[in-house]
Amino acid sequence: MAGSPRHLSLFPLRLLLLLPLLAAGKPVLEDGYTVTTFADLNPLPASGPHPYAVLPRSRAGDLLLLDSAGSALYTISLSSSPGEPRRLAGGKRGSGFNDGGPGDAAFDRPRSVAVDAADNVYVADRLHGAVRKVAPSGYTTTIAGGFSSGPGHRDGPAQNATFSPDFALVYVPKICALLVADRGNRMVRQINLKPEDCAHEKQSGLGNTLVSFIAVLCTLLGSLIGFLARHFYPVNVSMLLSQLLSQGDEYMHKLRQCNLKHIGRKSPSTTFSAGYGSNS
Ligand SMILES: *[C@@H]1O[C@H](CO)[C@@H](O)[C@H](O)[C@H]1NC(C)=O
Repeated sequence: MAGSPRHLSLFPLRLLLLLPLLAAGKPVLEDGYTVTTFADLNPLPASGPHPYAVLPRSRAGDLLLLDSAGSALYTISLSSSPGEPRRLAGGKRGSGFNDGGPGDAAFDRPRSVAVDAADNVYVADRLHGAVRKVAPSGYTTTIAGGFSSGPGHRDGPAQNATFSPDFALVYVPKICALLVADRGNRMVRQINLKPEDCAHEKQSGLGNTLVSFIAVLCTLLGSLIGFLARHFYPVNVSMLLSQLLSQGDEYMHKLRQCNLKHIGRKSPSTTFSAGYGSNS
């Protein structure tokens, strides 16, 4: 007799324990998506790019391709037929640490890259505790950790800063900075960028051109109208204007009277219509 109620009271508990298992086994399928191959790199030589990560470059309108194993950066067109990737920097001298032109730059199997608004690429150089910058030309520099050796979490001048051996980068346009997911230090670090790194030059340039174009158009239109008015309508403009204004005044007066009549008919007891009624 005593065993039965206990068994019953345990039953919901067991069901509760089973629920996560039941939920895990049942995906919710959402339709409407397709998968295609954007770029198949298999026909290229085995030494060629092996995509580890891809990121869009806003100014060039193409795609940055990080080949971690090959310690190289490539770019690939975003058109419908992307064609072959072009080497941006690294990969020529194997892995290592070297700055300079596209052929001289060397990286050591980087796994994290970020791209700013000016298409500069930032490489998280975990093995050297450094952040490298690759300009759109492919010229590579070291922007952080250049003086420091060994891991740490020192802030301050970027070249003296230290990072843990495991960190990743992300570009945050809102604060014009690189944020560093410093996993080993359990910190989010910040590297402030230069204003030109965060400027959307192409877009603002286009905006300025558009605004000046509209301004020129308005000026031309204005002078054209002025010219036409002077040469084809030899009437006194101020007389015309005052005539128009008096007509408008008359019209407004009529409109007000009409409105008053209307309101007065609807609600003669309101103070509003009474006040106006005494006026007229
Ligand atoms: C940064 O490192 C350099 C080279 O070691 C050193 O000369 C300089 O004083 C350091 N600056 C700071 C602020 O620690």
